[in-house]
Amino acid sequence: MNQAQTPPRIKLARLPTPLVKLERLSSALGGPEIWLKRDDLTDTTASGNKLRKLEFSVAQALEEGATRLITAGGPQSNHCRATAVIARQLGIECHLLLRGREPEEADGNLFIDQVLGTTISYLDQATFDALDQYAENLISQYASQGEKAFFIPVGASDEIGLWGYIEASKELKEDFTANNISPEYLVSAAGSGGTMGGLIIGREKYQLETRPIAFNVSNDAAYFRRKITADIASWNKRYSPQQEISPSAIDIIDGYVGPGYARAEPVIFDTIKWLAQLEGVILDPVYTGKAFYGMIQEIKAGKFQHSKCLVFLHTGGIFGLFPQKSQF
Ligand SMILES: Cc1ncc(COP(=O)(O)O)c(C=O)c1O
Repeated sequence: MNQAQTPPRIKLARLPTPLVKLERLSSALGGPEIWLKRDDLTDTTASGNKLRKLEFSVAQALEEGATRLITAGGPQSNHCRATAVIARQLGIECHLLLRGREPEEADGNLFIDQVLGTTISYLDQATFDALDQYAENLISQYASQGEKAFFIPVGASDEIGLWGYIEASKELKEDFTANNISPEYLVSAAGSGGTMGGLIIGREKYQLETRPIAFNVSNDAAYFRRKITADIASWNKRYSPQQEISPSAIDIIDGYVGPGYARAEPVIFDTIKWLAQLEGVILDPVYTGKAFYGMIQEIKAGKFQHSKCLVFLHTGGIFGLFPQKSQF
């Protein structure tokens, strides 16, 4: 691949995150060795996969002179919460555009957004569907007040945010060498697709043997193939390395969304409790719990029978546990 232009980056995440072997899980399954990449430990309040992407998105915002970040998601968006924390750490403002009505009680991520004194607008579905237009108008409004606002899309999943997991691939390669392992697969959850998109490019850029594979937690596999293909095309256009990615590299396993995005069946809560009690690792019910459950089911069904070693990417989401505590 041609050398991509280097994007601006600021240091936000505590890197490298640990890569740990889940000994008891591996022997309980009697199957492949399972390792956990702890990207839930990129920070405390700003934790999770989003922080790797924000190192690039926020750097771009600052380079353009932003005094305010605007971003969007559901009321329990981990990405919105991480962006709100980082804005305060940098001494700039943040405006969150949250889908739906204001909940009666602010719990989990939303509670933290409120403690931070973040500006929040609630958008109905129709307005949220035209988010880019809404954000553009808001940027103009702020400009008329002398503020420079910068819009980061949902999940920071665009050509800038992709860099987070492109560069994480280098760290993963170093982890694998240090631990003398050659995992066949790197398993993650796909919510807005930027983590998977970055890992697919990163695998080529840093020549990893390990194949990224994602469980979608919303929409369907076809949606993520389109979204990730479009994000990679935008990345090629902006940074001009002309990286060819074969459609077969976008490996999405569908079938574990359950009742819908952010809604889970009892088996997901049982799986979270089981892993917590087996390994002291806590997953979330929206992203990692579903992907992890999917991985276990696929191991049992023989999908990974030729694999000796898998890595599960823990992308964070701890605060999403609290609004769903009654389900436990
Ligand atoms: C905890 C957590 N895990 C996984 C994901 C999925 O990552 P991506 O949006 O890059 O697909 C998200 C966000 O959507 C998340 O908040």
